[in-house]
Amino acid sequence: MKSTLIVYSSTDGQTKKICSRIQDCLGNDFYSNIMPVKEVTEDDLKKFDRIIVGASIRYGKHKKELFNFIDSNLVELEKKDNAFFSVNVVARKAEKNTPETNPYLQKFLLKTAWAPKNLAVFAGKIDYPKYNFIDKQMIRFIMWITKGPTDTKNTYEFTDWDKVDSFAKEIIT
Ligand SMILES: Cc1cc2nc3c(=O)[nH]c(=O)nc-3n(C[C@H](O)[C@H](O)[C@H](O)COP(=O)(O)O)c2cc1C
Repeated sequence: MKSTLIVYSSTDGQTKKICSRIQDCLGNDFYSNIMPVKEVTEDDLKKFDRIIVGASIRYGKHKKELFNFIDSNLVELEKKDNAFFSVNVVARKAEKNTPETNPYLQKFLLKTAWAPKNLAVFAGKIDYPKYNFIDKQMIRFIMWITKGPTDTKNTYEFTDWDKVDSFAKEIIT
């Protein structure tokens, strides 16, 4: 039975929600825990057989906290079964929703020394009512230029939950 630590870097909670779904898929046969990337220590990593890291994109980038975590824990991370997934809205487009075709996942791989054993990319969520004025206008502009929804009264969840389930199953087999 493999224990699994699921680590997230998230601003608005969608990546954490995906982590919870993955945890549900692991089921009760596997001990698992979910932690924010900033709180994970090397000792935490040592306690688990498998590490899954998920991180979201904001203004074209994964957060610095993600790269700090990887830099500090690369040796421990590579001793384990491991996986990485990125969450962004570009991934709502069929031609940009695989690790090979998603620009942020590719950028991540170029930037890090870590070579995760499993990779995935999931489309995230646009929650206009939740954003402050500037973020709302900026993401609305990004959606407009990429032909996405621009009605700021609404929330749009693009996450394909079947795809999340398949990723979880792939990891545990
Ligand atoms: C202010 C802002 C900027 C964003 N910038 C990008 C971006 O450059 N590219 C992209 O694909 N998605 C972008 N997104 C979409 C997020 O990646 C998406 O909302 C994701 O679900 C966020 O995950 P989180 O809730 O875990 O932070 C942006 C979202 C916001 C609110």
